[in-house]
Amino acid sequence: TGPEKAAALLARKHAGPPVTMLTAYDYPTARLFDDAGIDALLVGDSLGMVVLGYPDTTHVTLEHMLHHVAAVARAKPKALVVGDFSIGTYPDAATAVANARKLVAAGAEAVKLEGGVAQADKVRAIVEAGIPVCGHLGMLPQSVLEEGGYKKKGKTPEQSTALLEDARALAEAGVFAIVLESVVPKTAEWVSSQISVPTIGIGSGEHTCDGEVAVATDLIGTFPWFVPPFAKPEADLAPQIIAAAAAYKVRVQHTPALGQS
Ligand code: KIV
Ligand code: NA
Repeated sequence: TGPEKAAALLARKHAGPPVTMLTAYDYPTARLFDDAGIDALLVGDSLGMVVLGYPDTTHVTLEHMLHHVAAVARAKPKALVVGDFSIGTYPDAATAVANARKLVAAGAEAVKLEGGVAQADKVRAIVEAGIPVCGHLGMLPQSVLEEGGYKKKGKTPEQSTALLEDARALAEAGVFAIVLESVVPKTAEWVSSQISVPTIGIGSGEHTCDGEVAVATDLIGTFPWFVPPFAKPEADLAPQIIAAAAAYKVRVQHTPALGQS
């Protein structure tokens, strides 16, 4: 069950090994990543950019998320399926619980939301409803428009202390893990050492957190138009996809059609 899988990931804080999380938005990718033994599949709202073609995550709706959570859940992965809340879908505790239930009904086994101290009451309410919650601190993509861009976090002592306060508030509210996005490596390491739940880093340095998350398209090279500087691609599939389509075109156009030979 979701709570059991989430508890097992929480225990990895001390037992290890590091937690592996990848985003997945569809059935085949979920099956393939699950076959690789990945611990958690995040149906992230990065969906908006890398699958739906929007400029940022602020265009993603709950309906988009439910559609893709359901596709991933149909793979019946051993991995924990985490459904991301899209922007504006957790304005208060009651709405957050209601929408968490929709994500779970679609097949999510846990949910994720952005923010710290200000979200603690929502996290507590969702956890009390029996749904595991993953936190998300540091750079928060849903705030990109207010912040005027994607900025590194945890640069100053003040920012680092605020980050730790946020992380502690989430841990006390009952999250099983916290994603740390675009946090200065030293700060990510420090926050990780000060809290009781695993941190899952992205763009926050290597081996600074208790695990890592990567966006699927960054890992396999299927979104070549934007690759974040911290991405470590393990495959470069875009040229192979183009080559396959081009080979198909050659085969179709160069095979004499019936009656033309
Ligand atoms: O939506 C997403 O892919 C995420 C990860 C970057 C953590 O939130
Ligand atoms: Na996200």
